[in-house]
Amino acid sequence: MCVCVCLYIYINIYLSHKIIHSSINGKISFTALTYQSTIHFSCNPGYILKGTSTCQCMADGRWSSTLPHCQPVICPPPQIPEFGVISYHTLKPGNVSVFQDMIGFECLPSFALFGNETAICTANGNWSHIPECKYVTCPTPTGIENGFINFAVRRTYGYKESVSFGCNGRYVLEGPRESTCEKTNEWSIKPSCKAPCKIPVKKAIVLYKGEKVAVKDGLKEGIQHDETISFFCKNKEEDCVYTVPTTCIDGNLTVPECFKGMNLFKTISCNITSTA
Ligand SMILES: *[C@@H]1O[C@H](CO)[C@@H](O)[C@H](O)[C@H]1NC(C)=O
Ligand SMILES: *[C@@H]1O[C@H](CO)[C@@H](O)[C@H](O)[C@H]1NC(C)=O
Ligand SMILES: *[C@@H]1O[C@H](CO)[C@@H](O)[C@H](O)[C@H]1NC(C)=O
Ligand SMILES: *[C@@H]1O[C@H](CO)[C@@H](O)[C@H](O)[C@H]1NC(C)=O
Repeated sequence: MCVCVCLYIYINIYLSHKIIHSSINGKISFTALTYQSTIHFSCNPGYILKGTSTCQCMADGRWSSTLPHCQPVICPPPQIPEFGVISYHTLKPGNVSVFQDMIGFECLPSFALFGNETAICTANGNWSHIPECKYVTCPTPTGIENGFINFAVRRTYGYKESVSFGCNGRYVLEGPRESTCEKTNEWSIKPSCKAPCKIPVKKAIVLYKGEKVAVKDGLKEGIQHDETISFFCKNKEEDCVYTVPTTCIDGNLTVPECFKGMNLFKTISCNITSTA
């Protein structure tokens, strides 16, 4: 009995499976490889069969036609968005885009990209998605309380332009220093200026940056937002003093309840365990 030898050699280890997933993006299926038996070829999604889809084993032990192959689907050149450019392209010889090739887009300055910035050549032979480029402007930015905008000019601003902020006097900036014109035609979140704290007791000695400081001398102006001072409190049972820290939070500084207004810094410090 005749067997189609060439193919047989190629596939003989897969015989029990009756289907071969070839390395050429398709598959070969058959029931036998003897005289008059037929094999079928098909391609994976995204590939097109070039050649015949079936071959028959002839009396001379050859196949009726040469083996076909699977060619990837070709996508037409992509439509470039208005005000956009191609940022990268996986180009094949002859500038042809095939299945699973990627293409990247960018928008011209002052235009923002809406949609996905990369598109892929699909199995249907079209591009997965083409983004849009839209003109974006933001109005003149408004100021912040107790602060200012650096070099502000009364005009509209373009996409991705930014302005920076500062705070008046002893106010402290919290949040991002810069705000940027976003796709939404709005400014990104602005910082805020946090108020300094007056120290509500004048006759006290406190611990400030590791030093004992008399409020009336060194801290007349108070402290800035997020700075910490420590008050001295007395432990009567053990006759010693301990420190209690307090932090300025946007103009609000709470004197610890245990503070009784005495300058106790000459007294012995408590052991850590007796400060509770
Ligand atoms: C391929 O495209 C590039 C850029 O679009 C062009 O410069 C080049 O001439 C093209 N090559 C062929 C073979 O069409
Ligand atoms: C953009 O498209 C690519 C390719 O199709 C995909 O892998 C990715 O998840 C998409 N991204 C978004 C944010 O949709
Ligand atoms: C691509 O082609 C398929 C089939 O023709 C269609 O269903 C799909 O909507 C198309 N996709 C795009 C993004 O045009
Ligand atoms: C100041 O701090 C106290 C204690 O934490 C709090 O009860 C009070 O609401 C704060 N006041 C302001 C104006 O933040």
